[in-house]
Amino acid sequence: MTYDLIFRNTAYGDVAVSGEKIAAVGEVNENAALEIDAAGKWLLPGGVDVHTHLGLTVGENSTCDGWEKGSAASLAGGTTTVIEHISFDPAGSCRAALRQAFVNASGRSCCDYGLHAVAQRVDEELLRTLPAAVREGIPSWKAYTTYSDPIFGEALEELFRAAKEAGAVVCVHCEDDELLRAARFKLEVQGRLSPEYHAAARPAYCEARSVREVLAAAHRAGDAAVHVVHLSTAAGLHEIRHAREGGQTNITVETCPQYLLLDESLYRRGTDQALRASMSPPLRTPDDAFALWQGLARGDIDMIATDHCAFSLSQKEQGWNDFRFTPNGAPGVEERLTLILSEGVNRGRITLQQAVDLLSANPARRFGLTHKGRIEPGCDADLVLFDPAALSRFPSPPLHGGAAYSLYSLLPLQGRVEKVWLRGRAVFDKGEVLAHPGQGKYVERYLRSDP
Ligand code: URP
Ligand code: ZN
Repeated sequence: MTYDLIFRNTAYGDVAVSGEKIAAVGEVNENAALEIDAAGKWLLPGGVDVHTHLGLTVGENSTCDGWEKGSAASLAGGTTTVIEHISFDPAGSCRAALRQAFVNASGRSCCDYGLHAVAQRVDEELLRTLPAAVREGIPSWKAYTTYSDPIFGEALEELFRAAKEAGAVVCVHCEDDELLRAARFKLEVQGRLSPEYHAAARPAYCEARSVREVLAAAHRAGDAAVHVVHLSTAAGLHEIRHAREGGQTNITVETCPQYLLLDESLYRRGTDQALRASMSPPLRTPDDAFALWQGLARGDIDMIATDHCAFSLSQKEQGWNDFRFTPNGAPGVEERLTLILSEGVNRGRITLQQAVDLLSANPARRFGLTHKGRIEPGCDADLVLFDPAALSRFPSPPLHGGAAYSLYSLLPLQGRVEKVWLRGRAVFDKGEVLAHPGQGKYVERYLRSDP
């Protein structure tokens, strides 16, 4: 037999690709049309980012990259599959929100993608739609404890019960809305509304209290599957450890590169920097970042996503005099894999195997991407060739995404994504995205019973 592509000298031995799939791993004695010597490089499974907003609309603002540019940036960064957190529906219908998300993404994505449905309110429509969506391959639902439609208390518990019965996981944005309002009100009274106060308006204790209450609601619902998105604080991590020690097992947790590598001092480096870094949750202290790295190394945090949510500088500037008018969010999908391999693995904070698990295998497993995230026969041939020795920096402005800035442009990095394959086809090479919009496929997902 001959294969289409064989990688030689990888950590897996030889890796042979046939069509869209990985066909053999280990010792491969046959030949291929193309053979790549990976000696000195890292061959990795394509990245899986389970938290993007490539097509988000909030009020008057839509993210500036959209599916075409956002998914191209994703491939350039070595992420071959994203799971999108979809927009709210203006009338609050979860079914309409899903329908619109499909329309937005359809024919536009360069990378493979799935969608998380959104639970905007826990009503009869949601309770009917949730099990139907699970049967059709959408087994993950997002709930926000803050913003315009916060879900908490009994409604959240009811959502967890419905999700458990249907076999879904609920992804929760944990920031306690009551405490957030109080913190913001204090700043309003003091007239402290310039972007430098963004973090003060969303203190760490808001995350910790919300994590505790969200996990308690999932526990009361019979250890329902809960996924804590974008964990940013040591206090929040403490609550997660506490719940696990108490016997709650069906919890997974993600953090994001910005909470590992940046800190709240950015808000004091002028309005421009503060606006670029305005996101929720906000950047935290260096001690929080340290605790999150420890959480990754010890296995308390299961995956690293991005919460990629790119708004242009002019959109950001809506909040120049008042942070309440800034659309929150920052780009990250092009940077994630390189940042974690450079600042995590090459600096000895986590091992290469841990990075692969955090960036690819664990998110794929938790969210039902059965054929992705691993280099094994039968899996999709989503592959990244990474040069761990190349000294690099992200170009400013970035080459592929829609935002004209990166939060990491000055950071010296060790390592670079060299080449990327999506289902066996080269989609990024020599700095150029080779995939076209529509080449990425929508992926139906079905969950395993264990996290
Ligand atoms: O600031 C952020 N993260 N914006 C996107 C929406 C969200 O909260 O995830
Ligand atoms: Zn988000």
